Amino acid sequence: MVIAVYPGSFDPATYGHLDVIRRASVSFDKVVVGVLYNSTKSPLFSVEERVNILEKATKDIPNVVVKPFNGLSVNFARENNAQVIIRGLRAVTDFEYELQMAQTNRVLAPDIDTVFLTTSLEYAYLSSTIMKEVALFGGDLSKFAPPEITDAVKAKLYEEK
Ligand code: PNS
Repeated sequence: MVIAVYPGSFDPATYGHLDVIRRASVSFDKVVVGVLYNSTKSPLFSVEERVNILEKATKDIPNVVVKPFNGLSVNFARENNAQVIIRGLRAVTDFEYELQMAQTNRVLAPDIDTVFLTTSLEYAYLSSTIMKEVALFGGDLSKFAPPEITDAVKAKLYEEK
């Protein structure tokens, strides 16, 4: 049984993240999506909200579970008996940071491999940050995430005003 973890901030998940999760669920027996607690990015959504959003958005994929985590991704992988860490790669701008992180993780845990999934072209430009920026100025979010997520973004931004 090959288990993969997919760690990230997911603040909140976009179609790009959901695409990576769905494709990983085909290649691996189980995918554990890890939502980072101690994000330095002062997230819009609490970790509980981010987990909840992802659980709803992936409820039709039986071999996907969503969990919060704190600390190192390699420790989260070990706790979940995972052999693989998944990351999505959108463009060359992601590459340097992702390579450094993968190499650090390899030094920390040589038995755990990072597998990159190249993002589907239609989501290559997309990020949670871009979605939140468009939302802030009242733009159409329908291409960025499913309605339950875009509704949550709008509700949160109104709530904060
Ligand atoms: O969605 P993000 O913000 O690009 O995800 C980044 C994440 C959560 C994968 C990364 O920050 C991470 O793994 N954080 C946990 C601490 C850690 O293990 N760092 C890797 C060694 S550099």
